[in-house]
Amino acid sequence: MIKTRKPVIAGNWKMYKTVTEAVAFVSELKLAVGGIGNVEVVVCPPFTALAKVAEALGSTGIGVGAQDVYWEDKGAFTGEISAVMLKEAGCRYVIIGHSERRQFFGETDAFVNQKVKTVLEHGLVPIVCVGELIGERESGITEKVVRLQTEAALAGLTADQAAGLVIAYEPVWAIGTGKTASDADAQQVIGFIRGVVRHLFGAGAAGKVRIQYGGSVKPQNTVGLMEQPDIDGALVGGASLDVESFAGIVKAAAGI
Ligand code: 13P
Repeated sequence: MIKTRKPVIAGNWKMYKTVTEAVAFVSELKLAVGGIGNVEVVVCPPFTALAKVAEALGSTGIGVGAQDVYWEDKGAFTGEISAVMLKEAGCRYVIIGHSERRQFFGETDAFVNQKVKTVLEHGLVPIVCVGELIGERESGITEKVVRLQTEAALAGLTADQAAGLVIAYEPVWAIGTGKTASDADAQQVIGFIRGVVRHLFGAGAAGKVRIQYGGSVKPQNTVGLMEQPDIDGALVGGASLDVESFAGIVKAAAGI
């Protein structure tokens, strides 16, 4: 299928890999996926490894992302990291509002919105995560949940800013469980999210915003997901920690 939007395959390493392990990983990864031009590849290591990973990747075209950010540039905010610092470390992307941050660290929709705005102001690309809990899916409110999360995260943005975003639809029940949403279910919700963006910002932005699927993505289920008209890549957890499986996902998305 010909898509006008370039797919983004991003690896969210979560709290895995020391600096040494991270550098060894990307040294192998660049050999495994070097020369693939029709997919954007991004790795999101822990904060400590960002600068070294960016240095090791150099001009390979593989992007580096952070897993969170704070919205002030500097100040007395113990434990936080600003967009200015991420940029200096070589980041181009920032994951915002991952369900683990929402569940375990009290991240609210209002925080997510502040972070999205800050990241855009600094010229970085937010990867905005939305997704429903299992109970929400079972009670039939998936669309309502992702609509409210999307509206809140994108509040106050311009249409141009919305067009440049990456949104990751990650049903929480599919994360780390081995239960992937079916291709049809993922397409249905992602098509719905694109509709929310259209409603808020118009057809131009909706046609450009890239929307990934995340939740137990593996090389074996990538092709089916990528064949869906509205799915523009994947946010990969567990399978991004191994070069062979992550490269397998990139290649499947590239049609190799
Ligand atoms: P898994 O791929 O391990 O299910 O994790 C998905 C995820 O949370 C990516 O952000």
